[in-house]
Amino acid sequence: MSGEEISLSDKEFDKIRDRIYQIAGISLGEAKRVLVVSRLTKIVRAKNLKSFDAYVDFLDKRASRDDKQVFVNALTTNLTRFYREDHHFDHLVKYVGRLVANPRYKTSTGKPRLRIWSAGCSTGQEPYTIAMALMQNFPQLKSWDFKILATDVDTDVIAKAAMGIYPAGELEGLSKSQAAIFEKTPDGNVRIPSNLRNLMTFKPLNLMLDWPMKGPFDAIFCRNVTIYFDKPTQTKVFERFSELLPEDGYLYIGHSENMRAAALGFCIDGKTIYRRSMQENMRASR
Ligand SMILES: C[S@@+](CC[C@H](N)C(=O)[O-])C[C@H]1O[C@@H](n2cnc3c(N)ncnc32)[C@H](O)[C@@H]1O
Repeated sequence: MSGEEISLSDKEFDKIRDRIYQIAGISLGEAKRVLVVSRLTKIVRAKNLKSFDAYVDFLDKRASRDDKQVFVNALTTNLTRFYREDHHFDHLVKYVGRLVANPRYKTSTGKPRLRIWSAGCSTGQEPYTIAMALMQNFPQLKSWDFKILATDVDTDVIAKAAMGIYPAGELEGLSKSQAAIFEKTPDGNVRIPSNLRNLMTFKPLNLMLDWPMKGPFDAIFCRNVTIYFDKPTQTKVFERFSELLPEDGYLYIGHSENMRAAALGFCIDGKTIYRRSMQENMRASR
């Protein structure tokens, strides 16, 4: 019995789909049945429950915050890699080059300020790539007030990201100069050097809930995250991003995602690259 899968009825599948949608905005399609069974069976058994129905009942009535987090962590998809969709980083380097020449903000002590948010950062490869690409091109950012916020609804991936340690195989496909940035650990893994880790703040954050930060961010990366949301949820999230971006700030989204740029006050500035434009904003609100 212990190794066997628990059967999942249509009704139970619908209940699970409903609960993950309510909590994390994730819309699980019909094709995700196998995924639900394979990811949740162990959890249901660990709770000594006999069926998915009993598990949903537990989630609804008796589950602690941690139990609910385990449910969410089990149903997220965290695929990522260093320099994924690398045209975004080429664009970012050009954009930040303009800000380095002409800083947009200064702190009260006169330091130029740069803020980037990686929303749905998974195990950290995306925000670390941002840090590597920028620090390699602009060493002067060392003296800036430069910070990268990296958030995800899945607390397991945030904990991994904060460690900054990866199997050496993750460097496959990177150029020599990109790979050279990583340190080697005694057990054969690779580690992000501390000067780059120090730029990061990793935090659990559910995009469906309140966002405690006020921004503004010079750029927001939210790539391959809204693909799991339905259209109304996507639009709401994009609207909220636009509120945290200044004029000419950038939003980078995933290769299979799209949004109605003009209606949300953005101009398209490359494949899946959106520039916040007050002009578009005014046009959209007319
Ligand atoms: C496929 S990964 C993308 C990682 C990275 N952005 C990239 O493109 O390589 C999607 C991430 O979105 C996160 N996610 C899903 N729903 C979320 C939500 N409601 N709030 C925050 N993050 C969410 C998942 O936990 C997962 O780590």
